[in-house]
Amino acid sequence: MQQHQYDALVIGSGAAGLAVALNLPETTRVAILSKGDLSAGSTYWAQGGIAAVLDEGDSLNNHLGDTLSAGAGLCNEQAARFTVSHGRESIEWLIEHGVPFSEASNQTNLHLTREGGHSHRRIVHAADATGRAVSTTLINRVRQKNNIDLYQDQIAIDLITTQKLGLPGNRCLGAYVLNQANESVDVFKARFVILATGGASKVYLYTSNRDGSSGDGIAMAWRAGCRVANMEFNQFHPTCLYHPQAKSFLISEAVRGEGGQLLLPDGSRFMTRFDERGELAPRDIVARAIDHEMKRLGSDCLYLDISHRPRAFILDHFPNIHERCLKYGIDMSQEPIPVVPAAHYTCGGIMVNHAGRTDLNGLYAIGECSFTGLHGANRLASNSLLECIVFAQSAARDICQQLDTIADTHDIPAWDASQVTDSDEDVVISHNWDELRRFMWDYVGIVRTTKRLQRASHRIKLLQQEIHDFYSNYKISSDLIELRNLALVAELIIRSAMKRHESRGLHFTLDYPETLPVATDTVLTPTLSL
Ligand code: FAD
Ligand code: SIN
Repeated sequence: MQQHQYDALVIGSGAAGLAVALNLPETTRVAILSKGDLSAGSTYWAQGGIAAVLDEGDSLNNHLGDTLSAGAGLCNEQAARFTVSHGRESIEWLIEHGVPFSEASNQTNLHLTREGGHSHRRIVHAADATGRAVSTTLINRVRQKNNIDLYQDQIAIDLITTQKLGLPGNRCLGAYVLNQANESVDVFKARFVILATGGASKVYLYTSNRDGSSGDGIAMAWRAGCRVANMEFNQFHPTCLYHPQAKSFLISEAVRGEGGQLLLPDGSRFMTRFDERGELAPRDIVARAIDHEMKRLGSDCLYLDISHRPRAFILDHFPNIHERCLKYGIDMSQEPIPVVPAAHYTCGGIMVNHAGRTDLNGLYAIGECSFTGLHGANRLASNSLLECIVFAQSAARDICQQLDTIADTHDIPAWDASQVTDSDEDVVISHNWDELRRFMWDYVGIVRTTKRLQRASHRIKLLQQEIHDFYSNYKISSDLIELRNLALVAELIIRSAMKRHESRGLHFTLDYPETLPVATDTVLTPTLSL
């Protein structure tokens, strides 16, 4: 076992984690952990772009209004105002660090594309691979810094707190981390810990996310005593590629922003029957409309068609999507793309204030794992990467102000593996993983009912018992860590969904189809048992 010691431990190497590390002073010793390679999270795969008011005809009030409207009355207006008002500054920070955003044809301005729910063109992007540009640029920057150490293939298991150690008060002291190369569990001790672990969309069978979106940060924070909010609001992206080999490949909303039309199998358009904004209605509406039409027609998928735009335009704006579709035998410049909705984004998360502070002293949460109040009942497209950068900067500022005041005096015991043995039946892990994701898709998906939620609640209790027994008796592995977290996050989603007796934004239930006049957050508080 190794003991590492840092001023700040950042768990996660996506946009949020990299940005907070780069915003801390160079005198701060920082560790960044990623449980996979450095493209493991969602950031690397982000396509459409980052929302910010840069066009003269646009305004902060427009961006704010669109955010609040997509959020279906549940956004925290202060958080939304705070975020959108830092849009320009965030884009400038990314440009200063070298992110190569696409330029407009005049080559003096950035090209701004459009996505659902936006009343103006305001999406800054790097062609159709914005996340790759952000991720590789920031990682290169981090690698040039002497004060930052990057650790790959290291998966945090749980947070270490004074309370868990039986010490007075409650402060986060670091984390136990499984080194996947040598299977040792190491201690990362830090004066400040920042969770930047991304979302939990892997809880659903079909998702646009990579395998690692298992809600680890949300689960760790909950176990350490932090409240979570609005976990019932899981965003389903309307258009993922439907192809047996195309696991989790997204077709960016920017395709619709640039004129792409949604079609039924007979080639007819249908979106205006559901919303006057048609293909550019907010995501919850478009995903529900597609789901409705697929069920009505018994169809496996619907279609997204942009083949009426010139081929050169398509290749210029969507080179990666074009290339990927072509790999599966679909030429999007000639024919419609088969699409289905898939789980995409976790709107709820660990409750934080404007500086990213959680309920636990010394613990911050930023990016998709956090709940700032920005997204309400449905996130506006491309507001997520913006939130990552804005809150990374405010968290870094907050940490800076305390760096001289927090001493490091605690001894941390080594991970205790004396009571566990090697597992003889790893099939339990893969079976439970599959079962959980399937019933979450079937019972807690785009359209919910009380009965379906009750079924899911029953199933998750049984699974959690089995997983708990497994966790208590067998040696830890990354699959087991993720399954345990996924099951906890599923429980939080189900509990939150059962508490909401209305339909709002992404939470739609046939038993409560109306929207209540007053919007309230669903807040869950853990009870700590030691
Ligand atoms: P992530 O980028 O998901 O990174 C999470 C990090 O945490 C990873 O490094 C992972 O290894 C690490 N991690 C997790 N658990 C552990 C653990 N236990 N121990 C150690 N490390 C851990 N949003 C937009 O605004 N615009 C877009 O165009 C856009 N396009 C998208 C396209 C796709 C296909 C997807 C999936 C999402 C898209 N989103 C987009 C959403 C956006 O990409 C994410 O919300 C955002 O990137 C999340 O960033 P993050 O830093 O919070 O987490
Ligand atoms: C997309 O490109 O459609 C994803 C944008 C987002 O999730 O914000």
